[in-house]
Amino acid sequence: MKRWLVIPLLFSSTFCLFSEEKVNEAKKFINEAEERLEKKWIEAERINWIYQTYITYDTSLIASNVNEELSNLTMALIKDSTKFTNVIKDPVTDRKFKLLQVSVNLATPSDSSKSSRLAKVATEMESIYSTGKACVDGKCYSLDEAIKILADSKDYKLALKLWKGWRDAVGPKIKPLYSEYVSLSNQGAREIGFADVGELWRSRFDMPSERFLEVVDALWQEVKPLYESLHCYVRGRLSDYYGDDLVPKSGYIPAHILGNMWAQDWSNIYQIIAPPEFRRKMVSIKESLNKKGVDEKGMVKYAENFFVSLGFEPLPDSFWERSMFKRPRDREVVCHASAWNIDMKDDLRIKMCISITDEDFKVIHHELGHNFYQRAYKDQPPLFRAGAHTGFHEAIGDTIVLSITPSYLKEIGLIEDIPEGWDLPFLLQLALEKVVFLPFGYLIDKWRWEVFSGKISEEKFNERWWELRKELQGIAPPVERTEKDFDPGAKYHIPANVPYIRYFLAHILQFQFHKALCDLAGFKGPLHECSIYKSRKAGEKFIEMMQKGASAPWMDTLAVLTGAREMSAKPLLIYFSPLKKWLDSENKKYGYKCGW
Ligand code: ASP
Ligand code: SER
Ligand code: ZN
Repeated sequence: MKRWLVIPLLFSSTFCLFSEEKVNEAKKFINEAEERLEKKWIEAERINWIYQTYITYDTSLIASNVNEELSNLTMALIKDSTKFTNVIKDPVTDRKFKLLQVSVNLATPSDSSKSSRLAKVATEMESIYSTGKACVDGKCYSLDEAIKILADSKDYKLALKLWKGWRDAVGPKIKPLYSEYVSLSNQGAREIGFADVGELWRSRFDMPSERFLEVVDALWQEVKPLYESLHCYVRGRLSDYYGDDLVPKSGYIPAHILGNMWAQDWSNIYQIIAPPEFRRKMVSIKESLNKKGVDEKGMVKYAENFFVSLGFEPLPDSFWERSMFKRPRDREVVCHASAWNIDMKDDLRIKMCISITDEDFKVIHHELGHNFYQRAYKDQPPLFRAGAHTGFHEAIGDTIVLSITPSYLKEIGLIEDIPEGWDLPFLLQLALEKVVFLPFGYLIDKWRWEVFSGKISEEKFNERWWELRKELQGIAPPVERTEKDFDPGAKYHIPANVPYIRYFLAHILQFQFHKALCDLAGFKGPLHECSIYKSRKAGEKFIEMMQKGASAPWMDTLAVLTGAREMSAKPLLIYFSPLKKWLDSENKKYGYKCGW
C-alpha cells in the first residue's frame, strides 16, 4: 500500500515527506551503507596497520590506495544519502544519516585524478613526518630520541639545536604538500555541502558549527586566568634559572626550553621551576619503574590492571601478540602513539614507541582508554561505533590518569612512601601537563580552521601560527622564523590530518568525568586526592556511558555519567584551586608582573 503524507513544517519552508515506503527505503539505504563501510573500514585498518608499522614505498602506495577507496566510497554514500533528506525517519535512522554526513576523514573530490592525488599527498606527509630525523652537529636523531634528549636537557643551546633540527627536517618538505592538501580536501568538503573542511570538522558535535565555536571559546575564557598564573610563575622561575638576558621576566617564554618539542606539556621542567622543598616531594614514576625493572610491556600491564579493577574484561591475548610497544630497530614506523580496533570487534592493539618515563606511563593509559571504549561499543551498529564525540574518546584514558595518585602508586607497589605534604607539588606537576596543554589544544585547530576557510593564505601560514602561539600560549620562537619554515608541519596531527580540538575538549571533560566517578566511588575530600582504583560502582557507570558509543547526542551520554548536559570547566578549576591560590601568592611574593 502506498501512503503519502505531506507535512508542512512550521520551521521550514520545504515539505517533508513521510511514507512507509520512503522510510523503509531510507532504512535499507543506511543499513547497506553501514555494511559496505564496515567492510572497507576493516580492510583499510589492516592495510594502514601494516603501513604504519613498516613504512616502505610499497606499503605507502597500498595505504594511499585503500584510503582513497574508503574516502571515495564514503563521499559517494554521503551524496546519495541526500535523496532522503526530506524523509521523516525514526530517531535511530535519522541519527545514522546525520553521522554519515560528517563521517568522511579525507574529503576526496569526485574528479578521480584529484582524489588519488589527495590520498597520495596525505600519505606522503605522514611518511615525511614519521621518518624525519633531527640533525644536530652532524648527528641525527629520530623524533622519539630527540624528545627524550629535550626532556632532560637544561642546556639552552642544545635544546635550541634539537628544536630547530626537527623543524628543519620536516617543515619545508611538508609545506607544499600541505597547501595542495588544503585545496583538494576543501573541494571535497564543498561537494558535500560544507563551506570548507573546517566547517565539516566542526559539524561533528551535535550543534551548529557557529555555536560550537562559541562553546569552545567560552571554555577557554574560563580557564585562561589559571593558565596565566601558571605562565607567570614559570616564566619568573625560568628567568631566575637561565638569567634575564635569555629569559626576560616580561613577554614571551622561548618555546624550546619548556622540556617538550612543542611546548604543549611543561612537566619535564618541574625540577628547575619548583621550589626545593617541592622537588623533594615529587613522586617519580620513572625512577620506580627503573628500580623495579619494569619494561615496556610491564608498563602496559599496569594500565590494563587499572581498567580491570573497575570491572572491564582483560585485554585479549591477541592484543599482546599483535601490538607494537617498541620502536623496531630495522625499519621505519609511525611512532606517534595510537590505539586500534582492527576488526571493529576484539582485535584491539596499540602502536607506540614507549620510553620508560612518567609521560609514556600516562600515554599508555590514554591509549588503552581508546581500546576499552572501542570494545565497550562494539555491539552498536557500525555508524555508532565511535565516541559520543571525539573529545570523549580522548578523555577516557586521561580520566584514569587522574587517578594515578601517590596512594594509588603505593597500593600497587610502585612506590614505598607517600611524601608528607605531597599535594601542592603534585598539583604543580600535573598543572604543567594539563593546564599548560589547554591553549595549545585550542590553537592548533584555530589555526587550521583559518587555513581551511582561506582566512590565512599560504604566504602567512607560519606568521599566523606564531601569532597564535604568542597570543594564546605566551611563548615565542627562539630564532627568527620565515615562510620558508612550516612549523605547524612539525606537529603530527597537522600532516596526519587528525583534528585536534578533541584534545582540548578532553582536557576539560576528563575532570568532569573524574569528579562524577569519584562521587560514585563515595570519595570525600579534595578532588586531586581521589583515585577510583578498584571502584566497581564508578566502573559500572563509566562502562554504561561508554557502551552508548555515538548512538545518542553527546549531551545525553554526558548526562548518563555526570548528570550535566554541558561541558564545564568547573571541575578542572576546583581540582586546581589550591594550586591557583598558591601560584597567586608566589607571583605576588616574587613581585612578578603577569601577562605578556
Ligand atoms: N596520544 C596521542 C595523542 O593524543 C595519540 C592519540 O590520540 O591516541 O596525539
Ligand atoms: N596525544 C596528543 C598529542 O600528542 C595530545 O596530548 O599531541
Ligand atoms: Zn588519543
